[in-house]
Amino acid sequence: MSDLAVLFVCLGNICRSPLAEAAFRAEAARAGLAATADSAGTANYHVGEAPDPRAIRTAARFGIDISGYRGRQVNPRDFKRFSHIFALDEANLSGLQRIAPAGHTTRLSLLLDLVPGRKGQSVADPWYGQEDGFLITWEEVTTAARALVAELAR
Ligand code: 4NP
Repeated sequence: MSDLAVLFVCLGNICRSPLAEAAFRAEAARAGLAATADSAGTANYHVGEAPDPRAIRTAARFGIDISGYRGRQVNPRDFKRFSHIFALDEANLSGLQRIAPAGHTTRLSLLLDLVPGRKGQSVADPWYGQEDGFLITWEEVTTAARALVAELAR
């Protein structure tokens, strides 16, 4: 697949993966990289919902409006639509591997595999914690997005 299309996947698609999508869109725009971006959840709990208010406020601190994003559940057809799918944590990666169609050519990995020194690690779920956890999430997904854009722009 020559067209770049990148999907970020967490559990609920209201905290981590919307922030990853936003960070990637911002970094790609900065680098002049043409790529489609989206995010989804392995669960269906928050389909059709806006991101968590704490995620919306965190992105807004960096000048990015994600209030129009809406949750959706990942599905096997995403392996046809996307050249790259990144799981935010190990459980999401397992869920994706379970639904991946045989013979798909999508590059599937953990998001933090992109970050030197963090291979195999998960982006912690900030859902259960305080708002400052979302700032850590933002920093992690931004670091990964920069590494991805650098790689894709080569
Ligand atoms: P996310 O966080 O996977 O980063 O969007 C969560 C959001 C909702 C739930 C769990 C995690 N939930 O259990 O509803």
